[in-house]
Amino acid sequence: MPTAQTAIIPDHCRAAIWIEADIQDYDKIADACKQSLDVLASWQQRFTDKALGLSIGFGKRAWEVLGTHEAAELKDFPGYGRGEIRAPATQHDLLIYIQSYEHDLNFSLALAVLQAFGESISVQQETHGFRRYEDRGLDDFVDGTENPQGDDISAVAIDEHGGSYVLLQRYRHDLNKWQACSLAEQEEAVARCKASNEEFAKADRHPCSHIARTNLREDGVKLEIVRRSLPYGAASGEHGLAFMAYCARLHNIEAQLQHMFGDTEDGLTDLLLTRLSKALSGGYYYAPSVEDLQSLAV
Ligand code: HEM
Repeated sequence: MPTAQTAIIPDHCRAAIWIEADIQDYDKIADACKQSLDVLASWQQRFTDKALGLSIGFGKRAWEVLGTHEAAELKDFPGYGRGEIRAPATQHDLLIYIQSYEHDLNFSLALAVLQAFGESISVQQETHGFRRYEDRGLDDFVDGTENPQGDDISAVAIDEHGGSYVLLQRYRHDLNKWQACSLAEQEEAVARCKASNEEFAKADRHPCSHIARTNLREDGVKLEIVRRSLPYGAASGEHGLAFMAYCARLHNIEAQLQHMFGDTEDGLTDLLLTRLSKALSGGYYYAPSVEDLQSLAV
């Protein structure tokens, strides 16, 4: 069985770094990936209890050049929604994702990985995420409760090749707007109690609540994803949620986005997108197995 990359399965990490880049020199990427895995292994041996992990993902164009097998569902992020409720596309070639219990370790690994890639890539966006107390987002609601746990994580996230489809989006929160909403309006938007994190009964959920838009079933089967999102940003500047999801099927992630952004027959949109947050970026990637990452085509 192929091995999933090390920053997919572990949950409850305290800090993360996302780096999105475009590829300038395809001939150097395979070597850079191998070097990155070597550096990761040496840092993991030195800091055994920090859950340090790395996953490298490829956009469609890059995977078509470098990939060892077809990733049939992979596509460029098309963008969703319209007008004010829009998920813009900012697709790049490469996603480097690092997570662990310590920001300083992540930062050190990021420096080493970027050194391995050198000028073969040009970095377009770097985001640093941090876990808040009680797993709360900057909106003060607990985030991640319904994430798959235990063996279900790989069952949901990992495909038959040991790889995973990835969505990365940055959501900028307008906390003034959110705080101007009453507690009842905030809880209506999420469909959970803020303090206790208790879920609203199905009958009490607003059809545009976040849970109503993302808890989806097809033919009676729940469309699950594995979320690895964290708050990010500067207190005095842009801040919000770095939303990342892994899944063995891109379809599950896309269906949820379509339901949030009104690209469905009912045209309903997620209340979080009018009361709290605006999507600023979006890219789809494929994070292959460790074995496939070690034997890229070029
Ligand atoms: C659930 C916040 C974006 C998928 C939740 C919950 C919160 C939350 C507070 C409830 C607790 C939990 O189960 O984690 C947010 C915020 C977002 C955001 C603040 C951005 C502004 C997204 C996006 C997706 C998504 C873009 C999918 C592409 C889900 C799913 C659940 C969930 C699948 C669990 C639903 C269930 O089965 O109960 N989110 N989320 N979220 N969210 Fe999000």
